[in-house]
Amino acid sequence: MNGVPQPYGLLAEVTHQCPLHCVYCSNPLALLDRQDELGTDDWRRVIREAAGLGVVQVHFSGGEPLVRGDLEMLVAEARRCDLYTNLITSGLGLTESRARSLVSAGLNSAQLSIQGDAAESTELVAASKRFDKKRDAAHIIREAGLPLNMNVVLHRLNLHRLDAIIDVCASWGAERLELANTQYYGWALRNRDLLLPSKAQLEEAVGVYERRKAELAGRMELLWILPDYYEPYPKPCMGGWAQTALTVAPDGMVYPCPVAADMTAMNFPSVHDHDMAWIWSKSAAFQAFRGTEWMPDPCRSCPRKETDFGGCRCQAFALTGDPGRTDPVCVHSPDHHLVQDALVRADQDNAAAEGETARANLVYRRPPASARR
Ligand code: SF4
Ligand code: FES
Repeated sequence: MNGVPQPYGLLAEVTHQCPLHCVYCSNPLALLDRQDELGTDDWRRVIREAAGLGVVQVHFSGGEPLVRGDLEMLVAEARRCDLYTNLITSGLGLTESRARSLVSAGLNSAQLSIQGDAAESTELVAASKRFDKKRDAAHIIREAGLPLNMNVVLHRLNLHRLDAIIDVCASWGAERLELANTQYYGWALRNRDLLLPSKAQLEEAVGVYERRKAELAGRMELLWILPDYYEPYPKPCMGGWAQTALTVAPDGMVYPCPVAADMTAMNFPSVHDHDMAWIWSKSAAFQAFRGTEWMPDPCRSCPRKETDFGGCRCQAFALTGDPGRTDPVCVHSPDHHLVQDALVRADQDNAAAEGETARANLVYRRPPASARR
């Protein structure tokens, strides 16, 4: 494909169904029903077409992908296409026999998420008491012969427990732990004033991360995903728009990143209407912000434009309503005050984010009309 980059990753969001209700979920606010989901044959076709495009790895995600009874068939199709397969899971619903059948189908790796180091923090963030199921899932993943990768989303309500979170993951045998500071889209943006940490809290956590990283070197890899609100320049989101990866949502809509579904100003394509090659190389949505031609100033004349690609299009849209503006995280953005104002609020005492009050104020990920518990 002339001048069009080749994607290497497919995020297959096979369902929005999930037993958890995380307050920072990256799924769109308008969650899809089971009846909207692509069937097995459509998913198999999507996987084959993605492989034909050059994709080399597929991440099965959701929601909770284990909810889908046909997950093994999708994993098997991906392996037939010679793709590396990874399962992104909450661990709820993972039994020994399910893990065995997924491995038989060709599953290569699994990433298990936790919300904190104990049942209480899991309940506060995910409205679920099932921390024990996560410990069981970690054991099952290792017994199935898969490497145990773990992930925790960090924020104001759990950063002070970072040492204990790392201890839990180490004791469960994790080989790698991704410490993902919250990115503020979708449900996380709804809950931003309760989740955004203060500068002092973040600095303390960075100290813990650095100490533990050195201590655990050679045993467990720690990866720190930057809290971009506290950075002077934005992250090079997705390596640039429609450059390296694509996401297929449960209903077959295709996006250049996992959170673009909330970008209501754009018309995204569907696998019901087009094949993946057309979507990737020809659709207007995928071409809209590819490269640097689309950039307004200050990005257009900035020496960093090939480094961060003007930041995140979803963040620009979420904060300004225009996906074509410079990411407001950037100190040069005319909208930077939108991020600064949130940080000023985060540095003030926030009674709304304390204990039981936080629980009452958080908006939990649920279908419309039942988000507040
Ligand atoms: Fe990046 Fe644009 Fe900011 Fe320059 S002005 S640092 S390209 S976001
Ligand atoms: Fe969509 Fe950054 S999350 S472009």
